[in-house]
Amino acid sequence: MLTTKSIGPEPRLGYREPVLSQFEPGSFTNAVGLTNPGADRSAELLKGLVIPKDRFLLISIFGGNVEEYVEVAKKLALYGDGLELNLSCPHAKGYGMAMGQDPALVREIVAAVKTAVDVPIIPKLTPNVPNIVEIAQAAVAGGADGICAINTTNPECYEAHGHPILSNKLGGVSGKVILPTALRCVQEIHSAVDCPIIGCGGISSAEDVRSFQKAGASIIGIGSALVGMTTDDIADYFKVLSNELENGTEESSAETLVRYDINMNFRPVALVSNEYITDDICILTFDRKIEIHAGQFVFLWIPGLGEKPFSALVDDPFKLAVINLGAFTEECMALKPGVEAYVRGPYGNPVNPPKNSKIIAVAGGTGLAAVYQLARDFGNTEIFFGARSKERLYFVDEAAEVGNLHLATDDGSFGHHGVITELLEEYLKKMSEEELAALIFYNCGPAPMVRAAESLQRKYTSPEQIYNSIDYHTKCGVGICGACDAPDGRRLCVDGPFLDAADSSQ
Ligand SMILES: Cc1cc2nc3c(=O)[nH]c(=O)nc-3n(C[C@H](O)[C@H](O)[C@H](O)COP(=O)(O)OP(=O)(O)OC[C@H]3O[C@@H](n4cnc5c(N)ncnc54)[C@H](O)[C@@H]3O)c2cc1C
Ligand SMILES: Cc1cc2nc3c(=O)[nH]c(=O)nc-3n(C[C@H](O)[C@H](O)[C@H](O)COP(=O)(O)O)c2cc1C
Ligand code: FES
Repeated sequence: MLTTKSIGPEPRLGYREPVLSQFEPGSFTNAVGLTNPGADRSAELLKGLVIPKDRFLLISIFGGNVEEYVEVAKKLALYGDGLELNLSCPHAKGYGMAMGQDPALVREIVAAVKTAVDVPIIPKLTPNVPNIVEIAQAAVAGGADGICAINTTNPECYEAHGHPILSNKLGGVSGKVILPTALRCVQEIHSAVDCPIIGCGGISSAEDVRSFQKAGASIIGIGSALVGMTTDDIADYFKVLSNELENGTEESSAETLVRYDINMNFRPVALVSNEYITDDICILTFDRKIEIHAGQFVFLWIPGLGEKPFSALVDDPFKLAVINLGAFTEECMALKPGVEAYVRGPYGNPVNPPKNSKIIAVAGGTGLAAVYQLARDFGNTEIFFGARSKERLYFVDEAAEVGNLHLATDDGSFGHHGVITELLEEYLKKMSEEELAALIFYNCGPAPMVRAAESLQRKYTSPEQIYNSIDYHTKCGVGICGACDAPDGRRLCVDGPFLDAADSSQ
């Protein structure tokens, strides 16, 4: 069974980053803020989803009142096998938990949705009530077909270096630390009502699953334990977990796959210089080295302002190339030497070009930041760097030292007059079959440039030779919020940032 993130009546951007923090290995606070594209757009997206016959899709919905729950339910019921009613989000004002704490309202919402649609209805309860049994009974009296317990607990505020981490300050608690609460809630609900229970909260091992089954859960939900896992890792994890449960083995090997090593701590860095390239591009140089391999990225956190993902232009001393695209990057442009900021990461997968391959790195905008270290560390690289005009070509001398540099500007003020893919085509045309077969491409920059580069490269080589990095909006960086998903479902932050074109659905 799969449960979607909660969908409400209208699109919501949610909170600015940070949206997730880890206060001890395997335990988190989050305040994503019910980010979702709204019921109408979600219906369109879900319509196109093919759900395998042996899978059950539970669509999680929320609203600000009874009518909104009914409205969203009617729009989405067709596209899933059941609806989960999120009555329990502890950090989004006006939604969720307040309603889930009132038994009369829980009964009314469940009954209204139940009358409006013809699919199983599963309210998801908050543990933040004096008596969860009373709420479960109200849900069943309203016609609930099952109950999901529990959503995140509390909320809490955790700090780093004296500053609240989450932009919302308060976040619901999930993961290992809430397991005892979740288990108690499932036991209490099971002893009071007669309906299937989805148990979730801190589950990671086969032993945890058995404890929840013993407590009365017939279906198990796993969330935080998947932090840091790639799409393939998740498939392996569930395979191992299912085998363990089927074979009844005592030793928990599934738990060894949980990424308790994911580091979300912030390390201080001080700004040494802020060099303006144009009025919307700058290079920030910090006072120390950051361990980061070519292809990976870090988050820069400025307390009070937020955090955003960046490639490291250089690791030692740590440098960022920043283009002003919004609130955070605007503030980066104005940073003065001496400012203290914080870095977490690195995240994502280092690039790993095959031995003896020739690297073609195609960069636009700040894409150069993702490919400079690649050329420096692996050598044998042709760098194709495109910009709108000469002023926007930065770090050119340094790039020329580590690779053969090919430059293009849209207005012809420097290098080839035109787009960078034209220059790349000239280059590829001259190559023999054998030379083409030895190429490996890394494309990084604005989405239209990356797509144009990939189409061209597919004409000359095979998709297995092409890797693309498009900066999809990346929020948690550790695979759990879903913000950075590519059209084919891969998450940039854990499966990328360079995603191989061979796996894409182009
Ligand atoms: C792996 C990775 C590496 C990156 N490396 C660099 C780098 O080296 N240098 C650099 O300047 N930038 C880089 N970025 C992009 C950078 O993180 C965004 O430009 C930054 O998040 C914008 O934040 P903001 O607060 O300035 O804009 P916001 O105020 O958050 O957003 C402005 C507008 O852009 C939209 N938006 C924000 N971020 C994105 C996005 N990533 N994709 C699509 N729409 C978005 C918002 O919805 C909004 O409409 C990278 C991104 C990723 C994922
Ligand atoms: C980043 C993150 C986002 C979440 N988003 C939702 C959501 O949209 N709707 C919902 O009902 N629960 C949401 N939850 C709660 C989880 O579904 C789950 O109930 C809770 O995290 C406890 O399980 P876990 O300890 O296995 O993560 C979210 C949890 C996390 C960590
Ligand atoms: S940014 Fe949260 S899943 Fe990738």
